[in-house]
Amino acid sequence: MLKYKGLLLTDWVNDMEKNLLVLHGPNLNLLGKREPEVYGHTTLADINGQIEAFAKEQGLTADFCQSNYEGELIEQIHGADGKYQVIILNAGAFTHYSIAIRDALASVSVPAIEVHLSNIHKREEFRHHSVIAPVVVGQICGFGADSYLLAVMAAKRIIERGA
Ligand code: DQA
Repeated sequence: MLKYKGLLLTDWVNDMEKNLLVLHGPNLNLLGKREPEVYGHTTLADINGQIEAFAKEQGLTADFCQSNYEGELIEQIHGADGKYQVIILNAGAFTHYSIAIRDALASVSVPAIEVHLSNIHKREEFRHHSVIAPVVVGQICGFGADSYLLAVMAAKRIIERGA
């Protein structure tokens, strides 16, 4: 059995092979029953399944995390450094005011893509501003669950470019 630094070599290789960390912020665990007129009827489990399948078609692998806690999302962002190639993040309402999440993204070398199901720019004024937008590669919003799939496509280009 091949071991490196206490890890099975297979674990280590698997660890290195993960491309995408998909982070979902507060209230996104309630997708499907949360304001369906805004966010649709698709559950988070369905969305993750779609992302995983689409990423696989693109030759990419993904890990997923949803949290209602700002600190947990920050820990996940810190932990992504050196482990994932791209972060895909829907920070939910934290998008609009969490300087701490903004700073976490700015503190790591992993490029991030900001995602929203709804078009935040045509909703209430307080949703128009994203404090994380200046520290991500780009923002994709308004395409429902497809926003995430578009983000996977964008992530693939980022990885291919080696950015
Ligand atoms: C959201 C938009 C945010 O304004 C909101 O707080 C969310 C979801 C979206 O995916 O459209 O929780 O990020």
